[in-house]
Order: sequence, then C-alpha cells, then structure tokens
Amino acid sequence: MQNITTTLKKLFYLWKRSQVPLKQPIKISRIDNLIIFLVCILISIISSYKLLLISPLNVADIFSWLLTFTEILIGSGILILIAKKENPTISSRQIFLIITLLLAAQATKLALASTISPLSIIIPPALIISQGMGTITALAWVSIASLSWPDPAVAINNNLFFILLVCSSVVSILGGRIRSRAQLLQLSIFVPIGSFLSQWILIGKDKITLINNQDFVLVNGDIFSDSFLLAIVMLFTILFIPIFESIFGLLTKARLLELADKEKPLIRRLSLEAPGTFEHTLLICGLAEEATRMIGGDIDLIKTGALYHDVGKLHAPNWFIENQDGLRNPHDELDDPIKSAEVLQAHVDEGLKFARKNRLPKLIANFIPEHQGTLKMGYFFQKAKEKNLDINEFYFRYKGPIPQSKETAILMLADGCEAALRAMNINASDKEALETISNIIYSRQKDGQLNDSNLSHGEIFLIKRAFLNVWKRIRHRRIQYPTSKNNTFS
Ligand SMILES: [Fe+2]
Ligand SMILES: [Fe+2]
Repeated sequence: MQNITTTLKKLFYLWKRSQVPLKQPIKISRIDNLIIFLVCILISIISSYKLLLISPLNVADIFSWLLTFTEILIGSGILILIAKKENPTISSRQIFLIITLLLAAQATKLALASTISPLSIIIPPALIISQGMGTITALAWVSIASLSWPDPAVAINNNLFFILLVCSSVVSILGGRIRSRAQLLQLSIFVPIGSFLSQWILIGKDKITLINNQDFVLVNGDIFSDSFLLAIVMLFTILFIPIFESIFGLLTKARLLELADKEKPLIRRLSLEAPGTFEHTLLICGLAEEATRMIGGDIDLIKTGALYHDVGKLHAPNWFIENQDGLRNPHDELDDPIKSAEVLQAHVDEGLKFARKNRLPKLIANFIPEHQGTLKMGYFFQKAKEKNLDINEFYFRYKGPIPQSKETAILMLADGCEAALRAMNINASDKEALETISNIIYSRQKDGQLNDSNLSHGEIFLIKRAFLNVWKRIRHRRIQYPTSKNNTFS
C-alpha cells in the first residue's frame, strides 16, 4: 500500500514538473475594469434594445431581450478572457481597443447595416486585432461580431453570412502571421477579390435582396461596389495600423521586423561606437533565437529585443570590457568598486532612456532591465570585499526587475553564456560546453532570477541544448580551412 502511495506521489511530482506554469497576468486597475465593464454593458444595450421597441410588448419579448443582452455581455467577457489568455501581458488599453472595435461594429450595424456590406464592417477590425493581438483573439472577436445583429429587421442572407465567416477567418489567421506591410497590402487586395468572386458564384450577379426587405449593398445589390468598398476600408485600416500601434501599444510582426533592421540609427550607432557590444549582441541574437525556437516562443520578439538589450552601453562604451582594446581599463583608474557598479547599472538606466527617446515599444524596452534582472556584479563586489569596504551586497546588484517573460529570461541566460562560450577553447568537447552552460543557468536559477519567467524544467533543458547547438556552430566557424597557393577560387 505504501509503495502505491509513493509511486502515486512520484507520478504526481513528475506530472507537476512537466506542466508549464501559467504566466502571471498583468493587473488591471479597478477604474479600468469599471470602464471596460461599462463599455461591455453599452455593447449589450446597443445590440439588444431594438427588441424592446416592438409594440405591443409582451413577456416573451422581454425575455428574448434579456437573453440577447446577457448573451452579448457574456460574449464580451469571454472575448476579454480569450484575449488575456492569448496575450498574458495585455494592457487595459488593448482590451479597451478590442471592445471599442466591437462597440463601433455594433453601432455601425445599427446605423448602416442596410447600406454597407457586413464584410466592410467586420473584416477591417479583425485585421487590426489579428495583427496586434493574435489570431485566436481575432477569431473570437469575429464570432461575436458576426453572430449578433442589433436590428431584428436586418437578416443576412445565409450565403453572405458564410462568405463573411470565411473571409474574416482568413484575415484573422493570415493577419496574425503576416510579417510585412507588403503582405498586408496583398491581403487587402486578394480578400476583396475573393469576396467578390465568392459572392458572384454563391449569390449571383442578379439583383438579389441580400437582406430582408431592403437592398443590401451600396448600389442596389451591386456586389462589385460592395467588394470595392471593402478594399478601400482595408487599405485605410492598413494606413492607420501604425497609429493604432502607437496609441494602444500594439506590437505587430511588421513593426518588430522594422525595428530589427540593422540600419536603424540606434543600431548603426551601436555598431560604430561600441563595436564589441554590437558583436556580443549579434551572438546573443543567435543563441536566443535558437533557444526560443526550441521552446516555441516568439522568435521575432526576442530577435528584436536582443538587438536593443545593451544599447545603454552607448553612454560610455569603453567602460565595458568587450569594447576595450585590452590595454586600458577605466575601472582600474577609477579604483572605486561602488562607482564602477554605478556605471554598470547606468547601462540599464541609459538604455531605458534611449528606448523612450526612440519610442521603442514597451515589450522591447522590457528586455533592457530584465536581461540583467537583479544579478550580482560579482567582480566589483569581490573587489569591494578585498578593499574591506563594509558595504551591503544590495549596492552591487542590478535594480531589476527579474525577467517577467520566457523571452526576457532566455535573453538573460544567453547574455550569461555568450562570453563563456566565446572564450571556450576550440578543442573543448560538447560535454564541457554543456557543463559550462548548465553551471551558468543553474547559478541564475539558484539566485531566483527565473522565478517570474514561467520557464519549466523541460524548457530549461531545451534551452541548454539550443545553446549547445549554437556553440557547435561557432566552433565550426572558427575552424580554419586549409589554404593553398591557388586559393583564389572558391
Ligand atoms: Fe547588459
Ligand atoms: Fe548583453
């Protein structure tokens, strides 16, 4: 009996260890929650009040109003939950954007459903949401927006409803994956063409009444003008996406890739003024990218975050070992461990200033303090101890916070392993390299630096393997090819 209990306990322990812990969601203030709730109530009222305008009103009508009202309210709540689940770090501004778009769609349906195609009302917001908050949130938004029609007199043709669902799902799925503005433009051309062809095939080019009692589209059921309007609204949406990005702090794939351009002035400055840091950054990008791919994280986010993580070193490049020529070290001349520790902390503080000045999105700026976490500046702490300075360890730790996401945690680990791997002997075995990596990662773990990152043990194992793979690549690159006299050919 005891054996069974022990086995069960072991199994439970192993199962618990294999589970990826959930990310701590960002706390939303009470006032924001109240505003969001009020907007949801407003959406429910707009979506259902017409049911109360029927005269004479009987109990069944009131019941049906109450049902629709509750349905929309619960639907909005589920939408917010799905958005939070897909984006654990979602801000109240972004939730506000999702529900405001729902409110705008419902209000437009109420005012213009008899003149504007539902495609033009639902597809463009789906594009914004899928770009900024992901495919699943966009699909959830689409399902609520297409199922609820505030005006009971407006009933959509089944075929049109089918086309609406297909087109908006395609936009939601592709919108979450699109990596450039050019692809967005292609989407805004091909989706209206697709909708035109499908309407032509399924509904026909005759003047079919698409909604009860009224002509549905702008020019008496002209599906061409309907699709043309959709193309124009989509193009305008794409034009306005950068404005949405800055107002609501959205981070689209296109924006991430734009920021990752090495010709960006800040990155160019880093390569010219702090070449050592730039080289270190490139190597870290490789390590972090490989590890993120292994655990299925956001590769574009970490690549861009890694590129900017040490920009703060631009405030005093030669105070950092990678930019020194090996002859002069200003820290030796200063001979004050406390001041040296302040210079090190300054690379985080100045980095955040650079981020603000260059309007880097918050998710990218987070990499700057979180890659250092509250790590101890061991070298200078040791120096202070040697000088018998009675000083608290606190002054030799970065101010933090510790990594709050898997991506920033991976960057911290890559940052720690980079110098060690670079310095490693070319003849070192894989086992030795893995041991070095494991020791560095274990020391960060023991120090509590990964506590908020939600990296599971399995993921840490995968990160170690990924770093080892990159080390193998570095080693391969360093092996010189044999040269011959006539080696001008390749
Ligand atoms: Fe750093
Ligand atoms: Fe670094």
